[in-house]
Amino acid sequence: MTTMPSGPVLDKGLANTIASDSRMSFIDGQQGILEYVGVDIDSLARHSTFEETVFLLWNCRLPKKSELDGLVAQIRAEYDIPAPMWDLIRAVPKDAVPMHVLRTLVSALSMFDPEVDDASPEANQRKAVRLLAKTPTLIANFDRHRKGKPFVKPDASLDMAANFLKMLNGEPATATMARALDVCLILHADHGFNASTFAALVTISTLSDLYSAITTAIGTLKGPLHGGANEAVMHLLDEIGDMSNVESVIRGRLERKEKIMGFGHRVYKAYDPRATYLKTFAKKLAEDTGNLKLYEMSSKIEEIMAAAVGARGILPNVDFYSATTYYSIGLQVDLFTPMFAMSRIAGWVGHCIEQLADNKLIRPRCEYTGPHGVKYVPIDDR
Ligand code: SDX
Repeated sequence: MTTMPSGPVLDKGLANTIASDSRMSFIDGQQGILEYVGVDIDSLARHSTFEETVFLLWNCRLPKKSELDGLVAQIRAEYDIPAPMWDLIRAVPKDAVPMHVLRTLVSALSMFDPEVDDASPEANQRKAVRLLAKTPTLIANFDRHRKGKPFVKPDASLDMAANFLKMLNGEPATATMARALDVCLILHADHGFNASTFAALVTISTLSDLYSAITTAIGTLKGPLHGGANEAVMHLLDEIGDMSNVESVIRGRLERKEKIMGFGHRVYKAYDPRATYLKTFAKKLAEDTGNLKLYEMSSKIEEIMAAAVGARGILPNVDFYSATTYYSIGLQVDLFTPMFAMSRIAGWVGHCIEQLADNKLIRPRCEYTGPHGVKYVPIDDR
């Protein structure tokens, strides 16, 4: 039972604050447990699909076959983007950062959605589907644009992961790669009140629109302390370059009190169950794609970190082995965080709709530390 303090208390980073409640994700940081609406993440990664997981998160139960078919049909009907959006993608600088592009294009999408400011549950549900379905099209075709390749229209005969990889690569993905991305999308779909989800909730709590909330979330996810960590892990592996350098690079960073990306978590003080799954997954994929060196360096980093800081609960998080996984799928490093966003849109919109069902403006207090009673002095007398 959470006892409420008598009055406002300062809680920097809100580490010890329960801001609201939700039925979507259960996280036990001490035991290393993650469940989406009570279904453990390992079972979902092994047996579910991203689209089924989206239904689970949005409806708080697993779908019947006909219900899942219905959601899949709704999503696929929304894969394509409004005609002017293709022109907008062409106008984006080829060297733009993909997370900046995604933030901008998702925001631009709102201008072509006649329901953008319709806050009814039905309209929000339709917008949730549009945001989820169109994001892969935006990411893949920006990559085509920046590489000087022709756009590839979405293929409504494919599921989200396969559709994304076909648009990105201009050819059908293998079943193995499509399933690998599908599993990554499942693992990244939701995670309680992480920073980007909470940022979205702050926005939607003002009764602003869903596109604004998701734009807020994308901007928040980008940071290397959050979703940007998967790209930072890859940059670390690139810097290390070879197994022989792992020890010196990691020890050097720890000695300089620099954080090792992909490790540590605000909530997990046991192994992040998503990292547990991704570690095995990454090894198999790395073996199959000739990237075993990346996995072996990652495993060596984990060994060194376990000895140095493991006892303090600083263990691999979802981003550590997702780096090797995404790289083995053939994704460019600066598309790793957009992959995270593509999946987390499911959680973001789900939490926003949950917030609206029992809304209260999110507005914490601030501890004032400045002066009082300061006399106003005219500028010529200062
Ligand atoms: C995600 O919240 C979520 O659910 C997020 C997420 C999701 O699904 O949405 O799970 C996804 O964002 C995972 C986290 C990705 N970020 C990283 O991998 C970046 C590296 N990790 C750290 O920056 C850090 O662990 C955080 C930001 C994730 C959590 O930090 P906290 O809870 O604010 O804790 P802290 O930074 O105050 O660290 C506590 C101590 C410090 O040492 P002291 O100052 O007490 O001596 O632990 C140390 C830190 O220096 N520490 C690390 C470390 N993480 C924490 N030391 C070395 N390497 C690290 N990675």
